Amino acid sequence: MVSKLATGLVAFAAVASAGTFKRAACPDGVHTARNPACCVFYSLAADLQANLFDKQCGEDAHEVLRLTFHDAIGFSKSGKFKGKGADGSMIIFDEIETAFGANNGIDDSVDSLKPYLTKFPNVTAGDLIQFAGAVGVGNCPGAPRLQFLAGRPNATIPADDGTVPEPQDSVDKILARMADAGFSPDELIALLASHTVARSDHVDPTIQHVPFDTTPFTFDTQIFLEVLLKGVDFPGSPNNTGEALSPLGAEGEMRLQSDFALARDRRTACAWQSMVDNQFLMMANFKLAMAKLAVVGQNVFKLIDCSEAVPVPQPPNGKRATFPAGKTRADLQQACPLPFPVLSADAGSPTKIPVCPNGSFNINDCP
Ligand SMILES: *[C@@H]1O[C@H](CO)[C@@H](O)[C@H](O)[C@H]1NC(C)=O
Ligand SMILES: *[C@@H]1O[C@H](CO)[C@@H](O)[C@H](O)[C@H]1NC(C)=O
Ligand SMILES: *[C@@H]1O[C@H](CO)[C@@H](O)[C@H](O)[C@H]1NC(C)=O
Ligand SMILES: *[C@@H]1O[C@H](CO)[C@@H](O)[C@H](O)[C@H]1NC(C)=O
Repeated sequence: MVSKLATGLVAFAAVASAGTFKRAACPDGVHTARNPACCVFYSLAADLQANLFDKQCGEDAHEVLRLTFHDAIGFSKSGKFKGKGADGSMIIFDEIETAFGANNGIDDSVDSLKPYLTKFPNVTAGDLIQFAGAVGVGNCPGAPRLQFLAGRPNATIPADDGTVPEPQDSVDKILARMADAGFSPDELIALLASHTVARSDHVDPTIQHVPFDTTPFTFDTQIFLEVLLKGVDFPGSPNNTGEALSPLGAEGEMRLQSDFALARDRRTACAWQSMVDNQFLMMANFKLAMAKLAVVGQNVFKLIDCSEAVPVPQPPNGKRATFPAGKTRADLQQACPLPFPVLSADAGSPTKIPVCPNGSFNINDCP
């Protein structure tokens, strides 16, 4: 696989230097590609959209995005942990890795992607995870169009337990783990933009699909604002491991202890605050950090840029960040000394959070 792709890269370079830029016709009869190795990803995108994501920023898109991180972070510069990064080991060695505590619930996304390895035998497990993540998050209005490079070899060893940061971990521990995987504090906060489209199923086992902000189907900056609001109560059962007080109380979103602490730590508070009401900064930061995450442990010179096969995401909805109804600037626990944006508050009774991307409150009624 690798040598075949490397040959493709040489061929591409030769064409480019000749000054002619001929796109290859794909076997699907619909697409052309700058490199024939990218053709399969057009077909994969169409299949994922039709049969897994339903073109929605729903549960499957959220879970696959989480999988991109849990697979890729299985890497250690210091050698403390074994693992080859974004190599698909979570799928290839699923019986080992899905049993790790930090991967609780990851089996849903592993099980939903695994059949695609049989359906698309030329796509490796690492490519499948990162490509599916890019397609899935693109269904969330406001998400950037992520880069996608193809050609990760299949994993040959599982990642060790202990590479995935957990919500109950201290900021010191999380920053140290991320540094060992090659990520700065700013890059960590950029990756955490993903929590704008995330929901928890296992932190509190008594409640499922509990979002981390009021708009879990929109890639907007609400997460960065809402995590800075004073906590008042817990949804579901109180004070589970890794959980902090939620700003909206018993009927509201879940807040992870790690998000709470990172938003208030002097090392990360300004990166956190910088994205409040700054949609384009959030998109740019997330795109860069995800481009790095997607190739952890990989030799990028052997990969082929197939970003053109990632569907163009839904545009941002144009809404500014707002305090949830009933909240004001007085509820802010600002930890960065820089000026905070002036924001209005939603009118009306306290915000209720739908469980389906189409606004339905009935989980059995999601399209
Ligand atoms: C997989 O790759 C082989 C070798 O390049 C090629 O002959 C075959 O058509 C590819 N199959 C698919 C489904 O793309
Ligand atoms: C990668 O591993 C999967 C699962 O074992 C297998 O189905 C697939 O053919 C492998 N792909 C390549 C390119 O080796
Ligand atoms: C939640 O539990 C932690 C650890 O046991 C404790 O320190 C904290 O005070 C608790 N918070 C609340 C609001 O009960
Ligand atoms: C959401 O979609 C479902 C299934 O298509 C439909 O039955 C329901 O009425 C929709 N709800 C809203 C609020 O649009």
